[in-house]
Amino acid sequence: VNVACIVVAAGRGERLGEGRPKAFVEVGGRPLVWHALRAASGAARVTHVVVVAPDGFEGDPALGGAVAVVPGGATRQHSVANGLAALPGDTEVVLVHDAARCLAPSQLFDAVAAGVLAGHDAVIPGLPVVDTLKVVDGAGRVTATPDRTELRAVQTPQGFRRTVLERAHAAAVERGDTDAPDDAALVERIGLPVHVVAGHSDAFKVTRPQDLLLAETVLARRAA
Ligand code: CTP
Ligand code: MG
Repeated sequence: VNVACIVVAAGRGERLGEGRPKAFVEVGGRPLVWHALRAASGAARVTHVVVVAPDGFEGDPALGGAVAVVPGGATRQHSVANGLAALPGDTEVVLVHDAARCLAPSQLFDAVAAGVLAGHDAVIPGLPVVDTLKVVDGAGRVTATPDRTELRAVQTPQGFRRTVLERAHAAAVERGDTDAPDDAALVERIGLPVHVVAGHSDAFKVTRPQDLLLAETVLARRAA
């Protein structure tokens, strides 16, 4: 079975504030996207890796671990759509991964792919939420406190039957949705079930400066 992985790396990294696309900021002396491509390529079940790159970075040596490089879009959703359009025709399962989750281990890719190969239309990794979350209205007033035991913080790679993810993206275009929070949300919108498997603490997203410190620490621990 052909399992492709789309690694989206075309974001600007505004919150990290390093003045260049986040995927090309380095940890352990290598760009985030290099680490992400290494993990995706290292997964036993992944047969094909496509990377979605920001303008001007298409030829960067850090992308050598991918078999195809495609240009990014204005939103993450558009970047994923560009990756989907570049998949080989015989792809049956597709994983979508954030380059920013650069230390997600290969085993997580394999576990997500295994869930799709076992028959689920959509499989996403999730972890219990540590903070108590509040729903707040525009005036700053708390309107609800969801039961934390029902909540999960979800990660990538997210895995899909290829036809399902293509249908979900096409339906989003028809509705006029351009900036979905994640791919699973688009599958939810077409009424199909999304299955959650155990996430991994190393699959955190590098978003703000302090996340780089954690990434450096995780890498140092692996090297020890
Ligand atoms: N991404 C992308 N194309 C976009 C926006 C985001 O490929 N137009 C990718 C990012 O490169 C990242 C992943 O989607 O790997 C998750 O997005 P996020 O963490 O929001 O990254 P950025 O958009 O780069 O960061 P920020 O929102 O702080 O600018
Ligand atoms: Mg963003």
